[in-house]
Amino acid sequence: MRNISSGRVLLCLLMISGLTSGRVVADGNEVLSNNEELAEVSLAFDLQPIFDTYCVQCHLLESAQGGLVLENGEAWANLVNADSTQAVLKRVDPGTPAESYLLHKLRGTHIKAGGSGQPMPYGSEASAGISASSVELVERWISEGAADN
Ligand code: HEC
Repeated sequence: MRNISSGRVLLCLLMISGLTSGRVVADGNEVLSNNEELAEVSLAFDLQPIFDTYCVQCHLLESAQGGLVLENGEAWANLVNADSTQAVLKRVDPGTPAESYLLHKLRGTHIKAGGSGQPMPYGSEASAGISASSVELVERWISEGAADN
């Protein structure tokens, strides 16, 4: 029940964020079709809406699960070059997605990466996690240097 409606909400958010960051081409159907023509992934416009929908209910200032705050304005400092509390990795290692624990938690490869706990978002069935294209956005943002943009 939650899955369908939150999926639609996310789709809308992604479309809106795509529009505001100028990534949607004229016919609106070719987002992500040609990586070379895409604008840089924006933390504020592309990723924060994903965090707001799927993560901040647990990763908020008052009660930061795993010591991680993903609220607007806090996410960058909590992620980029910040030590994971679970693995000998940074949560986000700019330019190096394979060494970024955040991505391992989203893909469920965190145990192999030397970490612990559950895949994120916590408590989701495999099918109810964030979409593969959202995870790809996170990966691209890290590859592009994880700017506070
Ligand atoms: C229902 C609560 C809940 C939700 C929703 C949730 N998390 Fe978590 N998160 C936790 C808890 C609890 C832990 C620590 C235990 C664990 O890892 O299983 C954690 C740990 C983490 C860690 C590891 C932190 C570290 O220092 O290594 C990352 C990264 C993370 N979460 C990212 C996310 C992201 C990104 C989302 C959204 C896509 C998300 N979480 C959604 C509860 C949640």
